[in-house]
Formats: sequence, C-alpha cells, structure tokens
Amino acid sequence: MESNIEKQNSDVLQKSFEEMISTIPKEKCWGFPEDLYQYQGFWFTPPFLQGAFSAQQQFQAQPTDIILCSSPRTGTAWLKCLTFATITRTIYDDSTTPLLSKMPHDFVPFMEFDHAQFSTDRHFGIPLLATHLPYSFLPRSIIDSGCKLIYICRDPKDTFVSSYHFIAGHCKSRNTQPVQLDEAFESFYEGVSLYGPYWEHVLGYWKATLEHPDKLMFLKYEALAEDTVLYLKKIAEFMGYPFSSEEQQQGVPENIVQLCSFKNISGLEVNKTGKHREGQGNLGTENNIFFRKGKVGDWKNYLTTEMAQRLDQRTMQKLSGSGLSL
Ligand code: A3P
Repeated sequence: MESNIEKQNSDVLQKSFEEMISTIPKEKCWGFPEDLYQYQGFWFTPPFLQGAFSAQQQFQAQPTDIILCSSPRTGTAWLKCLTFATITRTIYDDSTTPLLSKMPHDFVPFMEFDHAQFSTDRHFGIPLLATHLPYSFLPRSIIDSGCKLIYICRDPKDTFVSSYHFIAGHCKSRNTQPVQLDEAFESFYEGVSLYGPYWEHVLGYWKATLEHPDKLMFLKYEALAEDTVLYLKKIAEFMGYPFSSEEQQQGVPENIVQLCSFKNISGLEVNKTGKHREGQGNLGTENNIFFRKGKVGDWKNYLTTEMAQRLDQRTMQKLSGSGLSL
C-alpha cells in the first residue's frame, strides 16, 4: 500500500512531468491515440517517457544482468525467446518452459514499464531484462555495473512495415482509424516514430559496441534469420551460458531454435488469443499483433520502388562513415 508521503511524492513527480512535457515539441502521427513528444532527440508517448525517467532515477542494474535492447518491431520478442530458453535450459524442459504458456514480453519484462518497483529481484530469478530506450537514455547503473547488453536491429524498410501493421492492429482493436501507409512512411522517414529516429537509435548502440565489444553484442534480424543456430551459439557464449560439446552433439541449440521459431511461437494458444497489459489503458493489446509474418523482405509487398529507394538513400546517408550497413 502506498503511504501518504509516497502518494504526495508521486503526485509531485507527476505534476512536474506534466509541466515538463507541456514545454517540449509534440506531433500527432501514425494514428497513435496520444501525441508523440520529442525529448533529447527521440520521440516517445508520455507513458514511455515517464517510464524512461523512472528507470533513470531508480533502476539498479546488477553486474550479472543481461539487457536486451532494441527499437520496437526489430525482433525483440524473438530475442527474448532465444535468450530465455538458453538460460533456462537446465531448469525447464520442453513441456514445462514458461515459453509455452506466457507471451515473451511477460517472461522477459521491460525495464521501463514493468520493473516499476525496480527491485533487485529478477523475474523468474533469471537475469534478463529488456528495453527500447536509446543508448543515451540508459540508466547510469547499467553502464557502471558493467552488465552485458545485446542489441538487435533490422532493415529500416521491414522495421517500418512491421511498425505500421502493429499500430494499425492497435487502432483496429480500439475501433479507431489508422493513418494511411504513405502518411506513416513520411513520419518514419523524418525520424518521427516511437523511440525514433530509427537510425539514431541504431547508431547509438553501434558506437557503444565499437567502444565496448566485450559488453555489447550487436545483432541484425536478417543475419539471425539466415543462420539462427550459429548466432544462438554466439549469443549463448556472449551471455556466459555456452553450449557444451555434449549439448551440441545432442542438438540442444537446434531444439531451442525450433522451440523459438516464428511458426511455433506464433502458433501457441497464449500468443493467438491472449491479451497483454490488460487494464493498462493504451498499452493494453492483443498478443497476436506482436506476431505477424516473421519474414525478411516483406517490405516488397507494401513499399513502392520509389519509397524503398528513398528509405535506402536516407539509411546510407545516416549511417555514412559509421562502418555499419543495414
Ligand atoms: P513482422 O511484423 O515483420 O512479422 P518486436 O518483437 O521487436 O516487436 O518485433 C516484431 C517482429 O518480429 C514482427 O515482424 C514479428 O512477426 C517478428 N517475430 C516475432 N516473433 C518472431 C520469431 N519467433 N521469429 C522471427 N520473427 C519473429
């Protein structure tokens, strides 16, 4: 139960947050029910920005934590499944793993929304947490603790198409009208997207990887899709949970890849019919909108040649000189 003093403190914080966001740039776009607000170069809805502030003030990273970082729609849920299954492989078997009965965002919580109490206890006792925050927004304790980070990114064209469908799905479940795809495209192109500009999000983590390769692993969705077993072994090694040669002979990595495949995960009852964040206002949604096609290159079915070329040019221009290509 919240005490009177705690309630007064949280009312004061809420008021100062509301005063602060009334002074920063905002835009109505993508069909979001709320405006997007720009803070220190990135765009957020108010609950996400508030979550970022709370995490910055209160989150205490542990040196053993492994933080999965990403922009939305770049493979976060998939990475959660692969890492969770790898770390828990000796605790659960194929019939008892929470992977089968919970949606990925419920078994690996988001630091900025779910770790409200910011305790040092970890969900299921597993040192995994996730965040969509840009690198420059990470709580200081993450950097100071020396814990490990894994970042996943994706071709901006597929990221845009996936984001558009996700938001359209959100609108549909609220009986509101999504914007047209070309209108959302212009917003994305101009950098106005959730946690965007997308390229700056990617570049923040890319530069950090170059500086701290032992602490930050940088992944691309496309590479993970092309050889999931190879990358799973690298991820396991990086996290400090390598597969022994005996496990490799028994095909343990292959089993985990199969368990976490799009076909398997999207076909689970919990992910077909379950609900996520019920009772949390605009954050609430149906689980199935998190699982769409899980394919590389689906942008070809939605973007014109001109749109694809424009986005590719913008990507080249933004990433120029960084040594990274997407
Ligand atoms: P599509 O919309 O292109 O299908 P995030 O989890 O970061 O929101 O990313 C969502 C994207 O990852 C969606 O892409 C979703 O379908 C895909 N995805 C979800 N689970 C996956 C899995 N197990 N394997 C591959 N892709 C997956």
